[in-house]
Amino acid sequence: MARRSALVGCGAYLPERVLTNQDLAKMVDTSDEWIVQRTGIKLRHIAAEGQVTSDLAVAAAERALASAGMKADEIDMIVVATATPDQTFPATATRVQAKLGITRGAAFDVQAVCSGFVYGLNIADNFIRLGQAQTALVIGAETFSRILDWTDRSTCVLFGDGAGAVVLRGIEGEGTNRDRGILSCHLHSDGRQHDLLYVDGGPSSTMTTGHVRMEGKEVFRHAVTNLTDVVAEALTANGFGPGDIDWVVPHQANLRIIEGTARKLQLPASKVVVTIDKHANTSAASIPLALSEAVGDGRIKPGQVVLLEAMGGGFTWAASIVRW
Ligand code: ACO
Repeated sequence: MARRSALVGCGAYLPERVLTNQDLAKMVDTSDEWIVQRTGIKLRHIAAEGQVTSDLAVAAAERALASAGMKADEIDMIVVATATPDQTFPATATRVQAKLGITRGAAFDVQAVCSGFVYGLNIADNFIRLGQAQTALVIGAETFSRILDWTDRSTCVLFGDGAGAVVLRGIEGEGTNRDRGILSCHLHSDGRQHDLLYVDGGPSSTMTTGHVRMEGKEVFRHAVTNLTDVVAEALTANGFGPGDIDWVVPHQANLRIIEGTARKLQLPASKVVVTIDKHANTSAASIPLALSEAVGDGRIKPGQVVLLEAMGGGFTWAASIVRW
């Protein structure tokens, strides 16, 4: 027997305001054609003035709870993956906890930038498998629009705001890859790659919030290699081959990264959930946003095997295999 974390609900939230590539072309020297060709992005959502990361997180969490048929007070722990917290402290997760009216259990943030959701999922899964929690909300929520340099065309066209959430519940499995729930998670980081993708501010260094800085070409190169490696590791750990995967839900950073990684792993494009065209890169929110869409429209069905993979600043990279 093995204790597993089943994903029993998911939900997403996107701010109302839409910023198209055409809108961006009026702000910086760029074009719809360049952005679509290099990234696959057509539009992104932008949080309203005063709308903070915890607001987006709460909206996604409420939808995830509703889809699980659960009430907020049934949740034992809240993990929010974000690189754009409401404040330096306390954790955005505690703001979410208060807004959901939860007064028990633990709530904390995880910072692994775009890999944050898979990191958060792994942490919550470990709590559940060890019996320290029976249920958990894992949320990826970002307002990247607040840390973009809107005069830098090489970064400001790439990101958007949004949130996605899943509800985990402990169940008993047999300890095989036929079990429902999270089968395994695989996390990596390499701090030497800091200079390729970072924010040039922070409370302890500059006492400012800072802006995203990126060596796009270098990030691209590392992304395909690291993602291919971690996905291979996840497949091997579960005794799966590419043919056993029903759906790939990748972090949505760039359509070319998504397609390049799938090609290297012999995973057909028809099995890959793509939302980058209408969400852009929402960092930690991108996987649960894409997951919610594919579950909501009936593509992902009970019993199917879903592969999650992500890469982000740090660098951090991660993968998880889940049976829905
Ligand atoms: N519009 C028009 N031209 C642009 C723009 C823009 N928005 N941005 C850059 N350019 C120009 C550059 O100035 C350059 O011009 P030059 O040749 O005259 O110098 C030219 O386009 C080519 O620039 P490159 O950077 O070489 O373009 P590339 O094909 O590498 O595409 C991109 C850039 C889209 C950023 C790509 O490198 C990429 O996607 N990298 C990965 C980025 C990523 O995924 N980051 C996030 C992952 S981790 C996370 O999610 C936090």
